[in-house]
Amino acid sequence: MIVAITGTPGIGKTSVSEVLRKKEFDIVDLNKVAVEKQFLIGVDIDRDSKIVDVDKLNKYIEKNYDGKDIVFIDGHLSHLLNAVDKVIVLRCHPKILKKRITVKNWKKEKIRENLEAEILDVILCETAEKQSRENVFEIDTTEKNVDDVAECVLEIIKNNFEHMKKYNMGNIDWSEEILKEDYGG
Ligand SMILES: Nc1ncnc2c1ncn2[C@@H]1O[C@H](COP(=O)(O)OP(=O)(O)O)[C@@H](O)[C@H]1O
Ligand SMILES: [Mg+2]
Repeated sequence: MIVAITGTPGIGKTSVSEVLRKKEFDIVDLNKVAVEKQFLIGVDIDRDSKIVDVDKLNKYIEKNYDGKDIVFIDGHLSHLLNAVDKVIVLRCHPKILKKRITVKNWKKEKIRENLEAEILDVILCETAEKQSRENVFEIDTTEKNVDDVAECVLEIIKNNFEHMKKYNMGNIDWSEEILKEDYGG
């Protein structure tokens, strides 16, 4: 089973994946695959980021990981892969995300863009377009440390990835934040 761990950059995907790796789960770092396998279309200079060939990435993941035991795909594009069976979307209140994001050493505009993306549910909306509802789990990590978030993932596994109300997509709404705070970075 291929499980995407997605969410706005800085939200904690890699941190949670590291905890899961220590618990002997297989983890694929999607950014690393894209770079190592040269699945790149170009560079977005304005955004200071690489443009990834999602189609090639999908084929690679399908070929190498389909039919295996649980494998987690860590990456902010992982929800776009047709190969994934389940998607876990990590969320975080933008005020707290702003703190987490500081480790990334990004320009102000990039910080702002990502905080806005979290407020506007961009990754969740992309996920909803691509995956059916019962396969999507949304975890609010705002008041959870990394181990707590990993525990939520283990809970989902224990429940055989069956639909769980508390991880229903659509429970989380940061939309008021767009009016309240300056997220200029
Ligand atoms: N649940 C959490 N609580 C507090 N800090 C966190 C949490 N998850 C991640 N962080 C911190 O936020 C920063 C970004 O985390 P990272 O795992 O690199 O995010 P991503 O892989 O989604 O871009 C790191 O400094 C990490 O230690
Ligand atoms: Mg990461």
